[in-house]
Amino acid sequence: MPNDATDRVRQVWDSQADKWFEHREAMLASSRPIHEWLVAHLDPQPGQRVLEIAAGPGDTGFLAARLLGNGRLLSTDLAPVMVDAARQRAAELGITNVDHRLLDAQAMDLPDASVDGAICRWGFMLMPDPAAALRECRRVLAPGGRLVFAVFTGPDENLWASIPPRLLIAAGHLPPPAPGWQPGILALADRSRLQSLLDQAAFASTSIEAVDMAWTFTDLDDYWRFLVDLTALGPLIRSLSETARDELRTALVDRLAPFSRPGVLALPARCWCGVAVR
Ligand SMILES: C[S@@+](CC[C@H](N)C(=O)[O-])C[C@H]1O[C@@H](n2cnc3c(N)ncnc32)[C@H](O)[C@@H]1O
Repeated sequence: MPNDATDRVRQVWDSQADKWFEHREAMLASSRPIHEWLVAHLDPQPGQRVLEIAAGPGDTGFLAARLLGNGRLLSTDLAPVMVDAARQRAAELGITNVDHRLLDAQAMDLPDASVDGAICRWGFMLMPDPAAALRECRRVLAPGGRLVFAVFTGPDENLWASIPPRLLIAAGHLPPPAPGWQPGILALADRSRLQSLLDQAAFASTSIEAVDMAWTFTDLDDYWRFLVDLTALGPLIRSLSETARDELRTALVDRLAPFSRPGVLALPARCWCGVAVR
């Protein structure tokens, strides 16, 4: 589905890919509860074919690949630089039962019923057409195959993600959200909307539960690097004047003070983790 909205998503994530690779171990450590939940609920079996969509540097899928024996993982992403990062990460980890491919999850050039399982951590909410991506997941899954996924819940449980855009909007650096649904990091927070998208994709059964994690940083500087280097707000923050960036940092210090202890800034995060069976 090459369109402007998807092209913008691709550009953002291409620009963040090198940093995602650089911060891979810290990401893995903070997000452990989420990828452990996903891999446990995917329950990959030796010999199976598993598809990871929106794989980024690929770590979630690589945990599944270790359980596949002579089965194979297809690790895919929309952004070419992310696909390169995943290739590099697989080599670093010595994962050999993996193929890498550019793939827009909203329009997969994969045959029907060609995978036994699919995994997507933090992808669907960023796609302009998550309904199409869920339909595509169902289409490429073999009967009985399951999709496991994680998206973030709401702004109050994810202050790490909701405070920066609020501050940027208040300072006039970001327009207020347009009416209607827009893709974004918290865009699938509404559980009933998420359920309705799953229902529209006509999976045989679905379940969703909340899973908590915490982004753990050494201090505000460490969180600032994460915000600028790894999140979709990075390109905008980098484009601000030095004064505007300083003002944002100062405001963040105030808002995040309750989560700070000497040597640790731990920001709670919550995901909807789900299983959808074809
Ligand atoms: C927040 S990152 C998550 C990366 C990885 N899944 C993880 O959990 O570490 C989001 C990823 O989704 C990818 N993405 C966004 N839209 C996509 C689409 N339509 N198809 C495939 N990948 C997409 C981005 O390129 C980016 O790599």
